[in-house]
Amino acid sequence: MIAFVEFDKSLPRQGFDCGNESLNSWFHTQAGQQERANTARTHLGLSTFDSCIASYFSLVTYRLEVDELQRSRDFAGKKYPMSAMLLARLAVDKRYQGQRIGSLTLGHALRLLAEASKQIGFEIVVVHAIDASAAAFYQKHGFEFLTDDGSTLFLLTKTLVANLAIVQGGGN
Ligand SMILES: CC(C)(COP(=O)(O)OP(=O)(O)OC[C@H]1O[C@@H](n2cnc3c(N)ncnc32)[C@H](O)[C@@H]1OP(=O)(O)O)[C@@H](O)C(=O)NCCC(=O)NCCS
Repeated sequence: MIAFVEFDKSLPRQGFDCGNESLNSWFHTQAGQQERANTARTHLGLSTFDSCIASYFSLVTYRLEVDELQRSRDFAGKKYPMSAMLLARLAVDKRYQGQRIGSLTLGHALRLLAEASKQIGFEIVVVHAIDASAAAFYQKHGFEFLTDDGSTLFLLTKTLVANLAIVQGGGN
């Protein structure tokens, strides 16, 4: 099982290894600084068996600019930027991969975003997939490509909230 907590600098994170060097090194060296500077909010998934950090994700505010929107199929008609939240990073330690912890971590991030959307207006949730495999993971969870050529995927806030309402309402 996994328990989600807010970033805690006292928890050892140097051993975290998701297999991707840039996601590892950001977590080891920059997550704490960005937390203090309020530039990114990082959340941790702790294994309830050994209390180790099994996963993390970070959230930041974002804006999709008109030039990017014009290259997309869904939003080509937009004349103004779209307010967004960016799921900037999400990673599962190699020791815990393939046990649905990535899905649980993404689900927790999306619940936090749906909750935040009641207080803060943003139209869309964006992720930048680090590679094709990460993009496939997000597609599996309902995200769609913003443009045909890119690695940016999106989920509309209204879709997110509606999907969570279905899950929480048991499908009714
Ligand atoms: C991608 C990652 C987050 C997936 O986490 P995980 O805990 O191994 O994934 P889960 O066990 O929750 O898998 C959930 C589903 O996604 C699928 N999936 C997992 N990793 C996948 C991948 N790399 N490509 C395609 N599908 C993937 C699983 O097959 C599973 O599908 P199912 O529901 O049909 O069985 C993890 O492998 C990771 O941290 N990788 C390195 C960093 C990374 O790529 N991060 C992505 C964001 S930039």
